[in-house]
Amino acid sequence: MTDQTLIILGASGDLTARLLLPGAGALIKAGHVPGLTLIGAALEEDWDDARWRQRVHDAAGQTPPTRWIRADVTRADDLRTVLDAAAGPPAIFFALPPAVTARACAALLDVDLPEGTRLVLEKPFGTSAESAAELNSLLTRLVPEERIHRVDHFLGKSTVLNILGLRFANRIFEPLLNSTHVESVDIVFDENLGLENRAGYYDHAGALADMIQSHLLQILGILTMEPPISLDAGEFRDRKADALRATRLWSEDPAACSRRARYTAGDLSGRRLPGYAQEPGVDPSRATETLAELVLAVDTWRWAGVPFRLRSGKAIGNSRKEAVVTFRRPPRVPDGLTGCDEPDRLRITFGPDRIALDFNINGPGDPFELDPVTLSAEFGAGELPPYGEVLRGVFEDDPMLSIRADVAEQCWRIVEPVTAAWRAGTVPLLDYPAGSTGPEDSLLTS
Ligand code: BG6
Repeated sequence: MTDQTLIILGASGDLTARLLLPGAGALIKAGHVPGLTLIGAALEEDWDDARWRQRVHDAAGQTPPTRWIRADVTRADDLRTVLDAAAGPPAIFFALPPAVTARACAALLDVDLPEGTRLVLEKPFGTSAESAAELNSLLTRLVPEERIHRVDHFLGKSTVLNILGLRFANRIFEPLLNSTHVESVDIVFDENLGLENRAGYYDHAGALADMIQSHLLQILGILTMEPPISLDAGEFRDRKADALRATRLWSEDPAACSRRARYTAGDLSGRRLPGYAQEPGVDPSRATETLAELVLAVDTWRWAGVPFRLRSGKAIGNSRKEAVVTFRRPPRVPDGLTGCDEPDRLRITFGPDRIALDFNINGPGDPFELDPVTLSAEFGAGELPPYGEVLRGVFEDDPMLSIRADVAEQCWRIVEPVTAAWRAGTVPLLDYPAGSTGPEDSLLTS
């Protein structure tokens, strides 16, 4: 394998230390990128080779060759200097706020990019379907679509990828996954993390863009797509795009099918959390939501009529991260069998990584009285953490796990009626205390 270079623009930041370098470290350790050099670039004056090397060592647990270049990443001259330092086809990772990423991409138009350059962009990709389309057309002037990696680390989560095996590698579940048998689907990612000093980013994003428009819609795409012929990037991304293209708000009334809320002060895991609006760096007048819920329809032959409820909240007391398929009731339970109170449910849990099937069987004691039971299995841990998996796709030039241009735009299209209604104030911003289960008025049913 030839030499590879990962260029990180904005390398002094939190994303690089917390997620990107550990992912790169795992990839190096697993032997997937021999000869990888890590070039860090940012404007900070107090960073140098030694500090970058130390950061890489601490966060990646590895000591690959490194180089630090002080650069204004929105200037073509500086970007040329950074690229000149790369050996082999570089992957340029924009670990930058979206507006700076867009400016850096515009500056790259004046730079001759080395053959094989890949561009790797973090979410949020644009802020609307229109701005995502503009960014897409700028990017395709730089490199071909196959070498543009719009990262969604949920697609690198082994449990999300396990949905493919669960659905398409056995005959048990797939025949049931359609509107004939499914009543509703909930996709929930409630975290007990609060803002974690990320106001600079989060206050402009909010739960809808941070989690639902990106990660949860990708899970929805994998849960609802038709069986792909292969896991070839083209096939897989076509099928996922079909499902997301068919996805829309459940009704024309955003007030009926969306909720937004913001946490107030409360006790969470034994510590006192200030209200979101009081967190340093937050502008309360932005009315940024820390919890969002949407009800969506996937308007295909298979799924028409089944509501998909997506929800994500921060500072929730009981963290809950799962996709739950609730099945319709049996058409007829024989008279004489009692206790069939709860519907059957398939749960795919993201951390701990598990699958569980809740259903009713004859319980102990009275054989005509049914009891709920759960069959469950752990999903094995993946070889790589999500960012490692995503970076592996970048270095192997396999865009399967990257968000394709059209899908990035579709995902904004899906949420736009809601963002418009929220901006217009037609959906109230509810409150919930940190550490609680969220606002009382939830759209979830599981
Ligand atoms: C990130 C969001 O993309 O995903 C965070 O910006 C969120 O707000 C995180 O906490 C959750 O994902 P994970 O898998 O890293 O816990």
